[in-house]
Amino acid sequence: MKILVINGPNLNMLGIREPEIYGSQTYPDLVAFIEKVCADEGVGCEVFQSNHEGEIVDKIQKAYKNADAIVINPAAYTHTSIAILDALKAVTLPAVEVHLSAVENREEFRRISYAGMACLKTITGQGFEGYRQAILFLKMKGERL
Ligand code: DQA
Repeated sequence: MKILVINGPNLNMLGIREPEIYGSQTYPDLVAFIEKVCADEGVGCEVFQSNHEGEIVDKIQKAYKNADAIVINPAAYTHTSIAILDALKAVTLPAVEVHLSAVENREEFRRISYAGMACLKTITGQGFEGYRQAILFLKMKGERL
């Protein structure tokens, strides 16, 4: 099984960016965390980050027939991008949305998630741990297929 993990804009700034919200661990720490979870679970993974909406759309499209499932934290594009929603719908891969912070308890504009409409599950407010939960969920789902 191969899982594609997609991280959206400004997540590469983890550790520097609003540490009171996102913590002090860096983006390379997050990538190492995800890769270790996948290795421990015997799941193949690719971790991708982009600050550009179109690159994220391209990456989702390329996952068609190349990955079995998607974990996505679209970051700010969560709340704006119908293009990412449509790409997720187009490839019909099982997907889970992850947010490091509890978006539901923040500003009103963070309460809408377009990408989430194409996801089987949304995990918020668990920090890095949310990615583990997403990977475990998709692995379990894959084993049942
Ligand atoms: C985020 C939440 C988004 O609202 C925000 O724009 C981000 C990060 C999170 O992981 O908590 O960039 O997706």
